[in-house]
Amino acid sequence: MYYGADYYPEHWPRERWAVDAKLMKEAGFNLIRVAEFAWAKLEPSEGHWDFSWLDEALDVFYKGGIQVVMGTPTATPPKWLMDKHPSIYQVDENGLVQGFGSRRHYCYNNETYREYSEKIVEKMAQHYAGHPAVAAWQIDNEFTCGDGLYCYCESCRQKFIGWLKKKYGSLDALNKAWGTVFWSQTYTDWDQIIVPKKSQAAMFRNNGHNPGLNLDYSRFQSDGIVEYCKLQSRILRRYSDVPITHNVVSERYDYYKLGEQIDIATYDNYPASPWKSFLGGDPYDPAFSIDIERGIKNKNIWVMEEQSGPCGWNVVGSTPRPGEIKKWAYQAMAHGAEAMIYFRWRACLFGTEEYWYGILDHDGIPRRRYEEVKEIGASFPKICEYNVDSKVASDILMIRSFEQQWSHEFQSHNWNFDYRTYVKGLYYGLYAGNYNMDISNEETDFSGYKLVVAPAFNLMDERLKAKFEKYVADGGNLVVTFRSGTKEMDNSMTERTLPGYFKEVAGIELEEFDSLNDCKVTVKGDFGNGEASIWADIIKPVTAKPMAVYDSEYYAGKPAVTVNEYGKGKCYYVGCDLDTAGTVALMKEITGQCNVAPALENVPAGVEVVKKIAKDGGEFWFAANFSGQEAALELPFEAKEIASGEILGKSLVLPVHGSAIFTRV
Ligand code: GAL
Repeated sequence: MYYGADYYPEHWPRERWAVDAKLMKEAGFNLIRVAEFAWAKLEPSEGHWDFSWLDEALDVFYKGGIQVVMGTPTATPPKWLMDKHPSIYQVDENGLVQGFGSRRHYCYNNETYREYSEKIVEKMAQHYAGHPAVAAWQIDNEFTCGDGLYCYCESCRQKFIGWLKKKYGSLDALNKAWGTVFWSQTYTDWDQIIVPKKSQAAMFRNNGHNPGLNLDYSRFQSDGIVEYCKLQSRILRRYSDVPITHNVVSERYDYYKLGEQIDIATYDNYPASPWKSFLGGDPYDPAFSIDIERGIKNKNIWVMEEQSGPCGWNVVGSTPRPGEIKKWAYQAMAHGAEAMIYFRWRACLFGTEEYWYGILDHDGIPRRRYEEVKEIGASFPKICEYNVDSKVASDILMIRSFEQQWSHEFQSHNWNFDYRTYVKGLYYGLYAGNYNMDISNEETDFSGYKLVVAPAFNLMDERLKAKFEKYVADGGNLVVTFRSGTKEMDNSMTERTLPGYFKEVAGIELEEFDSLNDCKVTVKGDFGNGEASIWADIIKPVTAKPMAVYDSEYYAGKPAVTVNEYGKGKCYYVGCDLDTAGTVALMKEITGQCNVAPALENVPAGVEVVKKIAKDGGEFWFAANFSGQEAALELPFEAKEIASGEILGKSLVLPVHGSAIFTRV
């Protein structure tokens, strides 16, 4: 399996390549990623190709025992191309045309750009077809990361019209689905269709626009990105049968649809990036994100960029503490990463990312971080014997849906409600107790799971109703929360009594709800106490039984959480948000009732444990200490540390930032 770094031969003198290859080999590397931003070096002017420098680099590294992931360089269309065809620039929601100077400035739907992309991808695919150094292809780089929200250019509008014609067949059907009778928005000619960019009516992001238009535009933009990826994968597959990957981040498009176009999803993992302070930076973020990545294809992933130094653009984030690089790598492997590629091999002397430190500093001298990476490299083959093709032992599926997310984003119900944050909060409710889970979309087969959690699952139809009901009737346990089932798939409101399509399986009706704007509501129940600060559904049980009730407000005493027996299974309805401690306690109560066991019992707070099943069926565990202090784990069996082979006995002491992989003796 692959261990390596992202490398930019074009940034360094040729004489250095062999030095780097040797240092890499000594650290246990067998892979580098190259070329993903090198368009201007590969095609310096239109139709003039130069692969010589890359050929030479591949030779040096391949001779040194190192293969490559070859990136297609379409994230950085060069200046000559943008000057010749400025229509390729994205147009943002304010109508502002993007300029040159960074990257990702192209519109995915622009036909001219698609033609140029096809040309360079085909040239590269032809040139490197069958090359033994090429272990995989990466398409582009991080679709939508750093783009505007979506593109709103005329190419997009024209294609959107085509997309709508295909979806609705007639304008009558479109007008009905969007409810354009509201505010005289009826379209009488296809060419009248607008894209939902900001207008006077839109006070806040897209808020003034029709909800049906908004959701369809997200679906359309997502499809355009997936189609653009497919256009490249189709070409690559004609010339090569090595795996095709994309480093999937940003969450602006439907990951699951993109997953169909690639063989392996890869993730870029920066647990201590300089943006941590405003993007959120809990130690469990990588666990959550990598579980999401594993769900893209419901299979293990690679990390294509793993943080290996202090990093930043204009400011620098924290320096990884001794042990942290290993802890982050172990955490990523625990959650499904089979390959570990560090970003970047060496800090660059120039460019926007000249502050982004990698394994080596600007002077290219190996120091502490290199030694830590090398130490992991020494045991990597041993770890892979267990980890490759292993599975996270998971009885829980957390549903995470992009269509639901987009719908909630346009209309967030409450100023403080955010779908992703809410999903993450429930994730933490389980993670804190070391309950391992899979995260994927609603199309996943539910039947192997003891518990399916469907947070704020709002857009619904008969097909999904039948799927959820069958799962529960057959003995499954379903958790549904507030703001589920209130909408139809076209983003209009359902006429059904709430919780709409979930009414029967949950065995309840909602009498009222309270969007909590200037009050908090206390909740008490079998699980303990908690506090809601965003939403409170006031539940009337029909066949369900209350598990918790409100303890304040005019609805004190009314159910806040219920459980309903339905066929052989149970449906839990959680009518309110809860503070962190309340969420952890509620999830513990529910998992207990559903016979879901944690990865390990009695784990000290701040230590993450993941239980995995190796391909031969054997069990093993990853543990990582995020507590900030030494932590001791008592194990219910005699254990052996996998990387070192050390016999641990029945306890494991993890120093600050310590991590370990162990199995039964
Ligand atoms: C990633 C990107 C890399 C590099 C890195 C550091 O998002 O894929 O190319 O830019 O961030 O900023």
